[in-house]
Amino acid sequence: MKIYSKEELNNHSLSLTYDDLSLIPTVISEVKTRSEVNIKSKFMGIELAVPVVSSPMDSVTGITMAKELSSLGALGVVNRFGSTLNELFADDKIVEGIKAVSISLTSDEGLIEKLAASNLIICIDTANANNAYVLKKCEEIKKKYKVKVMIGNIAHGGTLRDIVNAGADAVRIGIGGGSVCTTSIQTGIGIGQISSLLDVYFARKEMKLDIELIADGGIKSPGDVAKALACGADVVMLGRMLAGTKETPGEIIKYNDQLWKKYRGSASFGVKMKGEFIEGEETMVPYKGAVKGVINAISDGLKSSMSYLNCETIDDLRKKDTFAILSTSSYLERLPKK
Ligand code: IMP
Repeated sequence: MKIYSKEELNNHSLSLTYDDLSLIPTVISEVKTRSEVNIKSKFMGIELAVPVVSSPMDSVTGITMAKELSSLGALGVVNRFGSTLNELFADDKIVEGIKAVSISLTSDEGLIEKLAASNLIICIDTANANNAYVLKKCEEIKKKYKVKVMIGNIAHGGTLRDIVNAGADAVRIGIGGGSVCTTSIQTGIGIGQISSLLDVYFARKEMKLDIELIADGGIKSPGDVAKALACGADVVMLGRMLAGTKETPGEIIKYNDQLWKKYRGSASFGVKMKGEFIEGEETMVPYKGAVKGVINAISDGLKSSMSYLNCETIDDLRKKDTFAILSTSSYLERLPKK
C-alpha cells in the first residue's frame, strides 16, 4: 500500500474527503499518555484550548452557545439571523464572553462599528467568498477598523491571493460538504472537503500568504477533526457535531420517545422563508445534552490520535505526512458492526 504525503494527496486524480482517508502511525510514539499531548493553539489572536469553531448557523450558535464555547476554550461565531444580533447589545454593551460574530453583506455600519469597538472577530457569512462584493466589504472593514475578519467559503486556492489582498485574516474552506447543504445538488459546484482544504493549503504555501485556514463542513467525528488538522487546517468549523446540544438555540422536541432538536442550513427554507433560492435542508438531530460533552469527546479523540501519531502539539500533527487512501471495503471494515 502506498503511503501518501499531503502533496501527493493534493495531486491525486480524484477529489477526496474525510472518509477516503486514514492517518497512519509509522513511528514508535514517544508520547507516554494522552495527558502529555498539548492541543492548545492560537487562532485569529485567540488562545484556544481545543481548535474548534462553531458555525454561525441559527440552529447552532446563539449567545448561550458562544459563551459556553468560550468558557470551554473553543470559539463560537454568533449567527446573524433573526433578533440574535440585537440581543448581543441588549444594554448597549456587548454580552460578555462573546469572541466572534457573523454579519451579512447588508449589515449596517452601526453594527460593524459596535463589533469593532468591542474588538470582536467579524465573520462575513456568505456562501461564496469568490465574489467581488464580499471582497469589497472585507476590504472596507479592514481599512476602517482594527479588527480580524474571516470570510468564506471557497473550494480551492485559485483566488487565495485576492482573498488575502482584501485583508481577510482567515478563510472558511468547503463548498457543498456541509451535512445540510444542497449546494452541489442545486448547482453542480463543489469538491471533496479534503481536496478543497489541501488545494488552499498548498496555495498558501506556494504563494507564501498569511491567512488562517478553517476546514468547514462535513466533519462528523473526532477522527475527522484529526484528519482536517493533519491536512493543514488551523481549526475546524462544526455545524452538525454541535447541533442538538443543550446550548443551541431552539426547543427540545419529544417525538417517538426520543428527544430531538432542529438543525437547519443557513440557506434552508426555514431561514429564508421568502421563496428565495434554497440551498439547504432542515432536519432533526437527537438531543445530545451539554455541549461540553461533545467538546470533551473531540479533545480526547484528538489527543488519542496525536499519541498514536507521536505528536506532542497540533503543529506536529499538521506536519504529518503519512496518509492512506481507503478502498470502500477498508472504509467499511473500519466501522463498528452491530
Ligand atoms: P456540517 O458541520 O457538516 O453540518 O456543516 C456546517 C457548514 O455547512 C457550515 O459551517 C456552512 O459552511 C455550511 N452550510 C450551512 N448552511 C448551509 C446551507 O443552507 N447550504 C449550504 N451550506 C450550508
